[in-house]
Amino acid sequence: MTLRLAILPGDGIGPEVVDAALSILDAAKAADGLTYDSQRFPFSAAHFLETGHVLDDADLDTLRGFDAIFLGAVGGLPNDPRLAGGVIEKGILLKLRFALDQYINLRPVQLYPGIETPLKNKVPEDIDFVVVRENTEDLYCGLGGVAREKTPHEVSNQTMLATRFGVERCVRYAFELARTRPRKHLTLVHKTNVLTFVGQTWHRTFTEVAGDYSDVETAYHHVDACCMYMVNAPEVYDTVVVPNMFGDIITDLGAAIAGGMGIASSGNLNPDGAAPSMFEPVHGSAPDIAGQNKANPIATIDSLGLLLRETGRIKHDETAIKCGQRIGAAVKKVTPNFTGKSLDRSGYGTDDIAKMVIDAL
Ligand code: IPM
Ligand code: MG
Repeated sequence: MTLRLAILPGDGIGPEVVDAALSILDAAKAADGLTYDSQRFPFSAAHFLETGHVLDDADLDTLRGFDAIFLGAVGGLPNDPRLAGGVIEKGILLKLRFALDQYINLRPVQLYPGIETPLKNKVPEDIDFVVVRENTEDLYCGLGGVAREKTPHEVSNQTMLATRFGVERCVRYAFELARTRPRKHLTLVHKTNVLTFVGQTWHRTFTEVAGDYSDVETAYHHVDACCMYMVNAPEVYDTVVVPNMFGDIITDLGAAIAGGMGIASSGNLNPDGAAPSMFEPVHGSAPDIAGQNKANPIATIDSLGLLLRETGRIKHDETAIKCGQRIGAAVKKVTPNFTGKSLDRSGYGTDDIAKMVIDAL
């Protein structure tokens, strides 16, 4: 089949890293017999500042017509008052995740060969897990409000939400994923000793669903302890399932231990294929280095590999899966070139790294 890709290059370094990744796709596709069509969309902070348009329902309908969405990075300069209140984060990223029911945020945490981890004495075998972050509930629902704003009596609240349906579909996805990995081990991360209401929904659902997966070993960690283990003993993790807010926090920690934001890929999945999934590097738009051929495109290239593998799985397209696997393997062949160098200041340009991956293909 011909894969229909919606490309959202976004802001800052987004367009460069997306173009680098697409150059790899163009190099890879012939060998695998993959064909794709793509269309670019301008949704970004820059587009908003220029036109006042963020992303509306008609845009969402257009995007629904694609098999997958590939996003570079969105966001303008920090502290730009015109972008205050999360207008871009809420208006583009979260809107896509919620409207397209991308209920799984898949974030691999894997130390690649040659990449330096800040953790002493840890090697690639020690840091190899995947975080399944619930992506449509929890504190991210925007439930809450503020009254008597900007007065001494200001009062605000924001509510954590867990639905049995939302938790169960996420937990089931995590068990299915854990089952396909060699260790078959799944850890639930929460804070059930304090967040007893939402915590019990998660814990009970996890325990009940575990009954259907007797081949998967399970564990439970409080989120604070998880942060400690991720630093002291990351090897305890194989698959981790976690609600949205805690997942946001631990996946930045995960990116850091695996070498930094230049390496962290992610997918926002609608695993049922009812709407397109979206793939993006975890990093931001880094406006300070935009347009200078300095951005490391590895995270974006890896996200493209993930796009092909996951979209292939959802659409039962072996060609896309194979192409995605080859791109993933090529990335791992290239990372040893970073031995002894920092990911951000390696001296390699964006285009050098793209070329290395193409050669490795
Ligand atoms: C992420 C980001 C987003 C999130 C922000 C930009 C809204 O931190 O993808 O992890 O909180 O999910
Ligand atoms: Mg985050």
